[in-house]
Amino acid sequence: MSFPEYRPRRLRRTPAIRRLARETHLVPSQLVLPLFVREGISEQVPVTSMPGVVQHSLDTLRRTVAEAAAARIGGVMLFGVPAERDAVGSGADDPNGILNLATEAVVSEVGDALVVQTDLCLDEFTDHGHCGVLRADGAVDNDATLERYTAMGLAQARAGSAMLGLSGVMDGQVGAVREALDAEGFTDTLLLAYSAKYAGAFYGPFREAVDSQLKGDRRSYQLDPGNGREGVREALLDVEEGADVVMVKPALPYLDVLADVKASVDVPVWAYQVSGEYAMVEAAAAHGWIDRRGAILESLLGIRRAGADAILTYWALEAAHWLRADL
Ligand code: PBG
Repeated sequence: MSFPEYRPRRLRRTPAIRRLARETHLVPSQLVLPLFVREGISEQVPVTSMPGVVQHSLDTLRRTVAEAAAARIGGVMLFGVPAERDAVGSGADDPNGILNLATEAVVSEVGDALVVQTDLCLDEFTDHGHCGVLRADGAVDNDATLERYTAMGLAQARAGSAMLGLSGVMDGQVGAVREALDAEGFTDTLLLAYSAKYAGAFYGPFREAVDSQLKGDRRSYQLDPGNGREGVREALLDVEEGADVVMVKPALPYLDVLADVKASVDVPVWAYQVSGEYAMVEAAAAHGWIDRRGAILESLLGIRRAGADAILTYWALEAAHWLRADL
């Protein structure tokens, strides 16, 4: 009988040894909570395909961000759901547009206790649901969209947003918005670039959350799911244009891209655990087919292990409470 030369199980024997040997940790400050705020409602409205997620009124939004600050999570990412939409997304840069009003309300509620972030994209504000403005032939017009993004970015900075989340995947968007902000003195406003944002099926429930008007798809601007190196290239370009943080989105189906981007840039890399990832776990848990808490924490830890410095997740508040209780 010969004995094993190596015994990796020694490091797994007790909870104390496992805790000490763990390579990757998840803490509340690494979590960012996406929040939806809808114009013209006084009570929150549930999002059916995302059990536990709601469209907030300005009032319930204030209460929730106060809770998020108390839970000491990293930040919130605000999305607006306007009552009216048009071809160019006029509500996006209107200082009285729902997202800008919500940003002011949130900043006045929590100040600097949370990093208040805002979605910088036109899709919630356009009547056709695309992330940019359209040419006469129906294609998304990249450079005309950049002008809308700079106006939207300035409106968000004026409303007090600390970090603008550029999620529209237009060429040159980071550089254009950085230049416009700097010219107006907003040199401290952070830019989060959704650099490796893939077109696909995992955003389905989000479309309900923002009452999306989209017909068709976003394949002419968001990345093709087969392309990993292209995600890295987009991240490198965004860093060159001045991105403070780059993002990979969705998270779980793109952990390889996340690891490659992490190895290729020297700015923080974040991941977005998107609506479809959320809905899958919630649906399985509702059937009793999966251990909900275990699956949520394991997916977040896996995303961290692959390279995410922080994670946007709809479970941010609940996960923060669990993580604190586990300390
Ligand atoms: C664009 C945007 C989307 C999401 C975040 N920002 C929608 C899209 O690109 O179709 C999706 C997030 C999610 O699915 O949770 N404003």
